[in-house]
Amino acid sequence: MSQQVHRVAVLVGSLRKDSLNRKLALALKALAPPSLLLEIAEIGELPLYNQDDDANPPAASVAFKQRIKDADAVLFVTPEYNRSVPGVLKNAIDIASRPYGQSAWDGKPGAIVSLSPGAIGAFGANHHLRQSLVFLNVPLLQQPEAYVGGAGELFDANGAIAKPESKAFLEKFINAFAAWVERNRKV
Ligand code: FNR
Repeated sequence: MSQQVHRVAVLVGSLRKDSLNRKLALALKALAPPSLLLEIAEIGELPLYNQDDDANPPAASVAFKQRIKDADAVLFVTPEYNRSVPGVLKNAIDIASRPYGQSAWDGKPGAIVSLSPGAIGAFGANHHLRQSLVFLNVPLLQQPEAYVGGAGELFDANGAIAKPESKAFLEKFINAFAAWVERNRKV
């Protein structure tokens, strides 16, 4: 693996102040190998996507799209809302995908971690998200799959991963992603 550092735009699918998904994104940043620089790309202030604005998009949308263009890779850390992708996350994806033919996502290597306090780790959101990302030509890490369940007990008081086996899994995941980015990055 090269010593090059790859910038990863991290999209968190929850805007909640105490979001478990945001905690997980920060924990993954701390666990990432030196070849990956994880930075959260904020989506909470984005306007709702409106196709009428394609010729003259709002400044916040232009800046967000540029943020994705500038990244070498994308990582989605998301809860499941009603068995699917939270609207705020889908809105951000739509914004950076348009106008047609000018998507910022095209060819960026990516990965998804889904998290829920429930037992099935937001599997539904994870796979609905995959459906959009196939269309957007984001080469997505397949294995290990990351459905993080029981997330209420995942963190210690400092936001670090409490259980050694969970930490080991997340390390394995982020290292596999680093190899995936190296192999699939746009040159
Ligand atoms: C949820 N939650 C939820 N959980 C789940 O496992 N499957 C689901 O379909 C849903 N649906 C859902 C809808 C809405 C509108 C809310 C607000 C919540 C619970 C959700 O997993 C829980 O609130 C997480 O803590 C949300 O993630 P953050 O905000 O902690 O990152």
